[in-house]
Amino acid sequence: MKVPYPMPRLPLSTIAWFALSCGLVAQAQAAPSNPQALLARHSCTACHAQDQKIVGPSFNDIAKKYPGKAAYLEGKIKSGGTGVWGNLSMPPQSAPDEDIRAIAAWLASGMK
Ligand code: HEC
Repeated sequence: MKVPYPMPRLPLSTIAWFALSCGLVAQAQAAPSNPQALLARHSCTACHAQDQKIVGPSFNDIAKKYPGKAAYLEGKIKSGGTGVWGNLSMPPQSAPDEDIRAIAAWLASGMK
């Protein structure tokens, strides 16, 4: 491949460092840890799926219904409830606060 301008010769260690720090930044942005992994770890996925109703509504539907409502979602996940999506009820969830907050923020932001 011909490059129209002289490529600076970076030492391999610089390139490796750059690649590594990109990886770290990408990981930091996905934090606090991958929401999908949290959903599986806390068994939300026993009742919820991404794009179809199981026992509870799909995460797509939840995200559509509550844009920007992270605080509401956080409270609802902790306390559970019934009557919003039908007659089935969601038991209160006992996952750690920071995990529930991360899931709520992820849903409220349209799962970005
Ligand atoms: C035993 C089944 C079950 C489990 C486990 C479960 N859910 Fe639910 N979830 C439901 C049902 C049923 C509803 C609908 C409740 C209603 O209609 O008000 C619901 C509703 C929700 C809602 C919407 C609440 C609202 O006010 O509209 C969110 C958000 C939610 N669940 C998140 C979670 C998360 C996060 C977890 C895991 C920590 C989880 N759920 C675990 C059954 C479950």
